[in-house]
Amino acid sequence: MRITMASSEHSGGSSGSASPSQTDRAESARVRITDVAARDGLQNEPGLIPTADKIRLVELLALSGVDEVELTGFVSPKWVPQLGDAADVCAGAAPRKPAGMVFSALVPNEKGLESALDANRYSVASNFGRVIDVVSVFTAASEAFSKRNTNATIAETIERFRPVVARAHATGLTVRGYISCVIACPFQGLVAPGEVAKVAKQLLEIGVDEIDLGDTIGAATPQSTLDLLDALGPLADPGRTVLHLHDTFGRASECALAALDWGLRAFDGSAAGLGGCPYASTPGNRAPGNIATETLVRTVHAAGYVTGVDLARLGEAADFARSIVQRAALGASETAPSETGGRA
Ligand code: HMG
Ligand code: MG
Repeated sequence: MRITMASSEHSGGSSGSASPSQTDRAESARVRITDVAARDGLQNEPGLIPTADKIRLVELLALSGVDEVELTGFVSPKWVPQLGDAADVCAGAAPRKPAGMVFSALVPNEKGLESALDANRYSVASNFGRVIDVVSVFTAASEAFSKRNTNATIAETIERFRPVVARAHATGLTVRGYISCVIACPFQGLVAPGEVAKVAKQLLEIGVDEIDLGDTIGAATPQSTLDLLDALGPLADPGRTVLHLHDTFGRASECALAALDWGLRAFDGSAAGLGGCPYASTPGNRAPGNIATETLVRTVHAAGYVTGVDLARLGEAADFARSIVQRAALGASETAPSETGGRA
């Protein structure tokens, strides 16, 4: 359902109408891009970002031609205060949703799903149609991280997700299953690919539609990316597997290239490289940002693959993302000069 060709596509410098054989090639070379800046990008910011700015960011991202925009997370506002305005972000995003665009949101449990469904009911009642198409449950391949991030063991998160997946499907939503710490955990160290495969299998068994592999702290190398994908084997079906890279050591582009070579065709990025999970932060060491979507798209285009992204428009979104974070950080530094992130 979610791999749709954009009406106007962009690749590394190619333009003009395509012959049938070029079109065939373009389809097999099509890479799906999700921007997570409005959620992952903003959840770890020390300053408070106004809801209107988040909505404008979503609008600019949607206009850039990415395939999907992750709007927010219906998580506990006590755990992630930055996303406490999730319902308002969705209400503001609904009238700005271009036709064919996919919007998604995190839901950690049934309560989160109910809030997402409320957001959809509200947007439908306001004649804007469904605002959220995909809900994302999230767990980890590391017990320590799972506990810190969701106050639950991995097994408990899977049990939590069972009714979420069933109800989401009953209401026509697609479900993504994020797995954090697929390479390493900030608390437990290296994670064996086999542990990731176990969790992926469990998520697929409860019915998630796609697996999103999170290198939460940007520890991946091209080789460890390939080792992970090899260990997952058929569990990493390219039609339903996404790679979510953070860019701590500047290796995320090389990892994306390795994954493209392996066969993956879907990636997450965050405009301007914002992001990081507050529960992957340690004292004095803030969780690293995601791969910048603009870097990701340039990498994908340069390797000869095709996306629907207009880099000039994405640049506008990235500039705006940078500006709202800088403005908020300035405000935060005036009130809490030494605060750097989450409590984990
Ligand atoms: P808990 O404290 O165990 O929850 O948190 P609880 O069920 O015991 O409920 C406690 C209170 O929270 C109750 O309220 C609930 O109603 C409320 P009270 O009665 O005390 O007033 N509550 C909620 N409120 C709003 N929305 C909800 C919700 N659920 C309960 N959905 C919980 C468990 C999972 C809720 C919490 O741990 C949580 O919200 N965690 C989210 C943490 C988070 O968002 N982390 C960042 C996203 S993951 C990430 O960044 C990684 C990723 O990018 C991939 C990668 O890079 O690896 C995806
Ligand atoms: Mg992340």
